[in-house]
Amino acid sequence: MGKVYVLDHPLIQHKLALIRDKNTGSKDFRDLVEEVAMLMAYEVTRDFPLQEVAIETPVATATTKMIAGRKVGLVPILRAGLGMVDGMLRLIPAAKVGHVGLYRDPETLQPVEYYCKLPPDVEERDLIVIDPMLATGGSASAAITFLKERSARSIKLMCLIAAPEGIKAVEEAHPDVDIFVAAVDKQLNDHGYIVPGLGDAGDRLFGTK
Ligand code: PRP
Ligand code: URA
Repeated sequence: MGKVYVLDHPLIQHKLALIRDKNTGSKDFRDLVEEVAMLMAYEVTRDFPLQEVAIETPVATATTKMIAGRKVGLVPILRAGLGMVDGMLRLIPAAKVGHVGLYRDPETLQPVEYYCKLPPDVEERDLIVIDPMLATGGSASAAITFLKERSARSIKLMCLIAAPEGIKAVEEAHPDVDIFVAAVDKQLNDHGYIVPGLGDAGDRLFGTK
């Protein structure tokens, strides 16, 4: 079974509180989502292996450590996952970005795919699927399934807020995937929204609705 990591660093928790606040407008919401994504990237990459490298400082040779030839792929789920991409690229600038377009049918809550464009060497990359919200888990599970159908071999999932139902769904569908979240909220409401959550992540990011 994959592990679930709740990233409880004070900076992440403080910024998440501001993100949840209904009085936070789109510009601040976007900036904060980007900042939290950057802070979370720090933890999500914690298991990257290092290799020893000799570096010439102005004084002497230093035996140092650098990340060992890791190829990373970020896979935001459109639309709301886009809000987390730039923050992660700040820390992992060499990552390639693939996009999976999914929306939740408001009646059935089932994910509907409308776009998929991935780096060609997806099987050689450590993929991080990103989406602010893990609600029923339908969208994240479907995105991970697409990646596996395209031969992906290493996948993590990173979300800001999860519902227990979403975590359970991803764990059942993809027991090999570790999940990184900033918070696990209480439950879903009758419309599939996370309670207390932050509302509609896509609408708040892009000022729609
Ligand atoms: C939101 C969110 C997730 C999904 C989560 O996207 O960004 O992708 O819902 O819900 P689930 O876990 O129940 O599948 P939405 O479908 O609203 O699309 P949008 O990002 O384009 O607004
Ligand atoms: N999608 C969102 O944007 N918010 C939720 O609470 C659930 C799904």
